Amino acid sequence: MREVSIISKIAKTVKKLIEGGYVIDIPESAEGIDGHIVSYVDKESRLAEQYKVLRTDFYFLSPEKPLKTVVITSSQPEEGKTITACNLAVSITLDANKKVVLIDGDLKRASVHRIFNIKRKPGFVDLLEGTVDPEYFFKEPVIENLYVIPAGTLSENPSEKLNTEKIYTVLDKFKKNCDYLIFDSPPVLDATDASILGTLCDGVLLVVKANVTPKKSIKEAMEHLNNAHVKPKGCILTNVKARLAYDYYYHKEA
Ligand SMILES: Nc1ncnc2c1ncn2[C@@H]1O[C@H](COP(=O)(O)OP(=O)(O)O)[C@@H](O)[C@H]1O
Ligand SMILES: [Mg+2]
Repeated sequence: MREVSIISKIAKTVKKLIEGGYVIDIPESAEGIDGHIVSYVDKESRLAEQYKVLRTDFYFLSPEKPLKTVVITSSQPEEGKTITACNLAVSITLDANKKVVLIDGDLKRASVHRIFNIKRKPGFVDLLEGTVDPEYFFKEPVIENLYVIPAGTLSENPSEKLNTEKIYTVLDKFKKNCDYLIFDSPPVLDATDASILGTLCDGVLLVVKANVTPKKSIKEAMEHLNNAHVKPKGCILTNVKARLAYDYYYHKEA
């Protein structure tokens, strides 16, 4: 990990709220990033460069137990979870041919399929119901080395599906067939899904939208995760506006 990094003032506040973990600033794209994955279509942009920094930091975030499986979550909707999960996944696959499985675990507000322009079903729910096999999703990558599992068929109580034994078999199968498995997930304050997924994975990264997510929500999300014995490995601070130099300062990593 970089010994010294430049982070925004708000990142320092967030660092305290998440009890000292890793924090990275992701800049806001003024022109918006809907409809494309910046790490793929605009590789030289500042935004894509910062996702590359996130990727490299991610490799070393947990030296004692590398994060092979990770959940990207946040306290509230519309904070950038999906965009972060997709860009992290793409950024890893573009690096040294690493094989990544990206799963849309936000079963109610599924959106990963739209970003990659693929069908929503079959997907994760169907895997958990046993109506499709994991092999189905390894037939064709969406881009080289990236296998995307959309949310799947809509069901009455999708969250209940996560509480079945089947999820262990499904995740084991994927883990054996990839280098990294990344989950997009619903907001922590909306459902227990992200906490459940967190207990099944090696780590959780909390997305916070700069100047938008209330501190109270971050604290509450931390409480929810802690209740499930999940401690986020770090925070991805999104939509950080370009600031004047005096608003940044050097921060020594612990
Ligand atoms: N760095 C960024 N710059 C500009 N817009 C962003 C950035 N990150 C996310 N967005 C936009 O914010 C909105 C919410 O992002 P999304 O990833 O769908 O949030 P969530 O999954 O948390 O609901 C989307 O319209 C997305 O394009
Ligand atoms: Mg989302």
